[in-house]
Amino acid sequence: MSDFYKRILENNREWVESQLAIDPNYFKDLSKGQNPPLLWIGCSDSRVPANEIIGAKPGEVFVHRNIANMVIHTDMNMLSVLDYAVNVLKVKHVIVCGHYGCGGVKAAMTNGSFGIIDNWIRHIKDVYRLNKKELGAIQDEDARFNKFVEINVKEQVSDLAKTSIVQSAWKNGQELTLHGWVYGLNSGFVTDLEVNYSSNEDLPEIYQLDI
Ligand code: CO
Repeated sequence: MSDFYKRILENNREWVESQLAIDPNYFKDLSKGQNPPLLWIGCSDSRVPANEIIGAKPGEVFVHRNIANMVIHTDMNMLSVLDYAVNVLKVKHVIVCGHYGCGGVKAAMTNGSFGIIDNWIRHIKDVYRLNKKELGAIQDEDARFNKFVEINVKEQVSDLAKTSIVQSAWKNGQELTLHGWVYGLNSGFVTDLEVNYSSNEDLPEIYQLDI
């Protein structure tokens, strides 16, 4: 067995011991149920761990991660997580957290082919196409990349707002706020893009559902 693999098993034992030293009932209490106030939709990137960067403890954040933090309305995995979070757990906040330096977003800006993932990346290319004018006007490649990361997060937040799940929750008067964040790999700080959707009237009319 590799040293790394052995080490993570040891780490687990040490972590259990340290938690129990603080509170002997820690795991017993956690096993009773969860009531997280937040759903996190983030990138799979290993450098953007949801709980750590926001100081959230086990039980505080329900998590969905995929390549480039996408909200794709035919993705049963994402829809199931969202439905459970909103309708069963009754989370108060959903954060879509992208990050600068995102490999998925970068791939979408190029003509590179990476195999089956090309089909996932195509959703991000659609976001580029929709914002081609703004992005194409940015000469500096890094600046264009950063802007694309931000625009992609905003687009995913609006795609969340378009779902029947979120629109139903709003119609029912459920408290639910959507947020778009970008995490800086080289700083550790998140930036709130202040994307505001609080009812389906904030969406273009064609997406407003008569629920
Ligand atoms: Co990423």
